[in-house]
Amino acid sequence: MANQKGGVAKTTSTVNLSAALRERGKRVLTIDLDPQSNLTMSFGINPETLERSMFDVLVHRVPIADVIHQREVDVAAASIDLAGAELALASAIGRERTLEKAIAAVRMDYDYILIDTPPSLGLLTINAFTASNGVIVPVQCEYLSLRGLVQLESTLQMIRENLNGEVRIEGILPTMVDKRTVHAREAIDLLTENFGDIVFKTRIRKSVKLAEAPVRGGSVLSYQPDGPGAMSYRALAEEVLSRDE
Ligand SMILES: Nc1ncnc2c1ncn2[C@@H]1O[C@H](COP(=O)(O)OP(=O)(O)OP(=O)(O)O)[C@@H](O)[C@H]1O
Ligand SMILES: [Mg+2]
Repeated sequence: MANQKGGVAKTTSTVNLSAALRERGKRVLTIDLDPQSNLTMSFGINPETLERSMFDVLVHRVPIADVIHQREVDVAAASIDLAGAELALASAIGRERTLEKAIAAVRMDYDYILIDTPPSLGLLTINAFTASNGVIVPVQCEYLSLRGLVQLESTLQMIRENLNGEVRIEGILPTMVDKRTVHAREAIDLLTENFGDIVFKTRIRKSVKLAEAPVRGGSVLSYQPDGPGAMSYRALAEEVLSRDE
């Protein structure tokens, strides 16, 4: 899950898509690769009390299994010290493949591994791109930045040429859509004009429940199972599953 723009619902989408895939019987791991640790907190884990976290996996080569917590889905937890990982890895040989190598040990244990990334295209996000088959790009329609998407795509092109020939944008996900505004409709039209079929049919509407669920330490599927937020992320899971068939 990536977009260098902040606050576009990367974390919210990681939490709720993973819960929806779990509901469909898939074995799911989520990885928190953001020093803000929002994914970790969203699953009710306190980052400050962690003995070991993704920082230790990337920098001290601790097995990723040692930082995985069992919640609604499995969660490889992060804390603020992950902010130091970019610097610590900067001069390491194979620095872009550190996450890919760490994941290799558990890859066969899961059907889906969803990685939440920070709002930047730095080394942490590049590690995520190198380790991934596909990238889901949430975009907030209210502040749509096509230029940002072009920059993201050109970073992915570099990753394909140098590190991971397979990685592609799996889908663009319109989030925080306010159906009442003309602007939201225009933004979605603009997206489909420019990116065609890779824009998901599912649109995630604005819903305060999606913002409240993390406070309860879980997904909106467990907080309000029949609400619009849960329905939207279930629909997204169906789309992801059908694209993978
Ligand atoms: N569909 C929605 N309706 C209402 N609020 C939402 C929705 N999706 C996300 N939010 C809220 O918007 C804020 C930003 O979402 P989120 O943290 O998922 O974005 P992010 O892209 O992960 O941000 P960052 O770049 O800082 O990591 C959060 O407070 C979240 O609860
Ligand atoms: Mg986030």
